[in-house]
Amino acid sequence: MTVPQPPEPIPGARLLFSLDPSVSHLNHGSFGAVPIAVQRAQQRLRDEMEANPLRFFTQGLVDRIAHARRHLAAFLGADPDGTTLVGNATAGAAVVLQSLALRPGDEIVTTDHGYGAVALSVARECARTGAVSRTLPVPLTATDEEMVEIVRDGLRPGRTKLLIVDQLTSPTARLFPTAAIVAVARERGVPVLVDAAHAPGMLPVTVASVGADFWVGNLHKWAYAPRGTAALVVAPPWRERIQPLVVSWEQNSGFPVRVEWQATLDYTGWLAAPVGLFTLRSLGVDRVRAHNAALAAYGQRVVGDALGVAPERLPEPGGPAVAMRLVPLPPGVVTTLDAARELRARIADRLSAEVSIAGWNGRGYLRLCGQVYNTPDEYDRLAVRLPTLLAQG
Ligand SMILES: Cc1ncc(COP(=O)(O)O)c(C=O)c1O
Repeated sequence: MTVPQPPEPIPGARLLFSLDPSVSHLNHGSFGAVPIAVQRAQQRLRDEMEANPLRFFTQGLVDRIAHARRHLAAFLGADPDGTTLVGNATAGAAVVLQSLALRPGDEIVTTDHGYGAVALSVARECARTGAVSRTLPVPLTATDEEMVEIVRDGLRPGRTKLLIVDQLTSPTARLFPTAAIVAVARERGVPVLVDAAHAPGMLPVTVASVGADFWVGNLHKWAYAPRGTAALVVAPPWRERIQPLVVSWEQNSGFPVRVEWQATLDYTGWLAAPVGLFTLRSLGVDRVRAHNAALAAYGQRVVGDALGVAPERLPEPGGPAVAMRLVPLPPGVVTTLDAARELRARIADRLSAEVSIAGWNGRGYLRLCGQVYNTPDEYDRLAVRLPTLLAQG
């Protein structure tokens, strides 16, 4: 079989970023990369803050944050009055968990594709309240219909107080049919938190149409915002129950301001986030999406071929816009979190390539992303050199 053609490059796109040119940055998904124009916009705001901190914090900052929030909510197709800015998806999930007032015997249901840090947050909330958590196993090859069925059968109405489902999963780069899952959970009276950490910028998102009780997405991954910028969208019945992680001076201002105002923080990232959207729109949102998804598919194929993985055994992400793909590693290569971290560091050191490595259900996977600053030869080079590195153990 022939390898799919890589996409046409987006001219000049690499120059928009300050990435080290001696490294192949093939893991945009973990921490994003902030375009230079966005870095500059944030720096200008920091200059303004440092010129007169008192004026910056006390004259109009709450309104400026609200303005940025409305801009970001419009991009996401979310109700601006139901949207609040938080530092990241992990914080958004924690805000929801600790606002639920869980009691002994209540349960939280997740899937085995969930994000590790959110699972730790669930565990802590359960330990604090006496609630329990249950993880539903979902095969990597499950169809959308099967996923919906597994979730429907896994909920216990009355007892399940929250279902957490990730729209695009971190360890398995798998798209979940969140709107359909929310619909079946709603039929059973179970509230849903959609962890859409990777969705803004990568996937066409209209948050309002998902219908989730809670939805959280990072703007600092695929929407080019400064790090520390995420949106938590909350359905009307829950808004007054949502409490911030840190109580501060806006506590009595109601949702969403009381969640956003977390005392003396650097809020400049939120104010500069619309410049990230401007950059994305200038490149062409659809063009960027098509480019990134095609490049990730190309990378998956060439690295998969190099490791001897038959094309039909390469995991499919479940949707055309997904710009993150998995390549299974040979059995036994990564069986623990420590082994995954060690291999990632070794690939970075020896092959000058940043990738994600995860163990999932006893198997190791390498995750590759496509971004506008990547070129096909970066995946080709990894493909040539990775088998020898893995053989060295
Ligand atoms: C599904 C999912 N949830 C949550 C997160 C956490 O994002 P953050 O570190 O910005 O909180 C990630 C990060 O990659 C993720 O993939």
